[in-house]
Amino acid sequence: MDLELNETQRLIQRTARDFATRVILPQAHDLDETERFPREIMKGLAELGLLSINVSEGLGGSSAGVVAYSLAMQEIAAACASCSVMMSVTNMVGEAIERFGNEEQRARYVPRLASGELVVGSFALSEPDAGSDPAGMRTTATPDGDGWVLDGAKQWITGASYAGVIIVWARTGSLETHPGTRGISCFLVDAGSPGLKIGKPEDKLGIRASDTVPLELERCRVGGGQLLGGMHGGFKIAMMALDGGRIGIASQAIGIARAAIEESVRFAKERKSFGVPIAQHQAIQWKLADMQTELDAANLLCMRAAWNKELGRPYSREAAMAKLFASEAAIRICNEAVQIHGGYGYIREFAAERHLRDARVTTIYEGTSEIQRLVIARSVLA
Ligand code: CAA
Repeated sequence: MDLELNETQRLIQRTARDFATRVILPQAHDLDETERFPREIMKGLAELGLLSINVSEGLGGSSAGVVAYSLAMQEIAAACASCSVMMSVTNMVGEAIERFGNEEQRARYVPRLASGELVVGSFALSEPDAGSDPAGMRTTATPDGDGWVLDGAKQWITGASYAGVIIVWARTGSLETHPGTRGISCFLVDAGSPGLKIGKPEDKLGIRASDTVPLELERCRVGGGQLLGGMHGGFKIAMMALDGGRIGIASQAIGIARAAIEESVRFAKERKSFGVPIAQHQAIQWKLADMQTELDAANLLCMRAAWNKELGRPYSREAAMAKLFASEAAIRICNEAVQIHGGYGYIREFAAERHLRDARVTTIYEGTSEIQRLVIARSVLA
């Protein structure tokens, strides 16, 4: 594994950093306060090619690779975690359609996700009673003439109020004939499809400018050409997409944690106690040393997972380790950042409290820490 970045990776990192600091960061506080969907920022990310980093150039993507994707995610997350989660899910959706879709589906959706015409992509797997165990889903897809009728409910769906296309998972085989994970397929559902109802956005602890909604599917009709991948093959598509998604969330956690460290360093150099800047106190120095060490360890795990994926090697276990460690480290780091800020860390005026609130979700979505441990343990015991 080469720890030196190549020219393309540097370019993507620089491009993302420039956009993040110049355009996103000045709005981050307001976006969090107002919970406003950052439409113009998502458009800007699309224009820079950051919504389709792993999509091939022939389909409008940047084809820059997984390491570049992780670096870009870190930069955007450091400025605004809400923007970065929608960037991550859109990349995941575009990549899944390119990988599992047929020619027509690829041509219809991938370039429009890359260009921002579809605003964002959305990934509807979880249900009110099926989060960590998606095989327990109850949403069904029933053949209807030359298409399908979807019925059920989805929950915690990122970006769905604005998404031009949503990948929706549904049961196509009964539990009797297709037990466990076997009877699940996935469908490309266009925004505005009849019977697709977008629920009220959740009032969240963090990532408040990202849209998180429940969906209702009431006799939602989609054409026969909307089945993505093979019949009953949906569970594996979800698992493979989530393996890549976990690199995205690890990168998000790293970006948030890096921002928290940078805020802490700045604050510690300015804030005085006992006659000196608090950065001169060993109590603060040791905190910063531990925070930076954890951040670097998270980054190395994440780079290894990204590197493996980029080279076409197995990477499920590495992605799970990266997400597990980076997300838990991010919470510890952000918590210490609040502590270093003292009372200032507890008020909205300083970014430290936003970073802690934003970091909190990273151990929950795209597989909780407990699920990552399960994936890792199965691979250790195999
Ligand atoms: N890649 C390819 N195939 C895989 C796979 C992977 N990573 N993981 C499992 N599979 C295959 C298995 O090989 C198996 O195939 P066969 O039937 O041919 O043997 C099949 O899938 C079933 O696998 P398991 O028996 O391991 O399935 P399981 O029911 O025990 O579940 C699990 C495994 C890892 C717990 C899985 O359910 C899981 O990842 N759960 C968490 C779900 C999750 O991450 N949800 C996040 C929601 S999306 C989100 O948050 C997005 C957002 O908006 C931010």
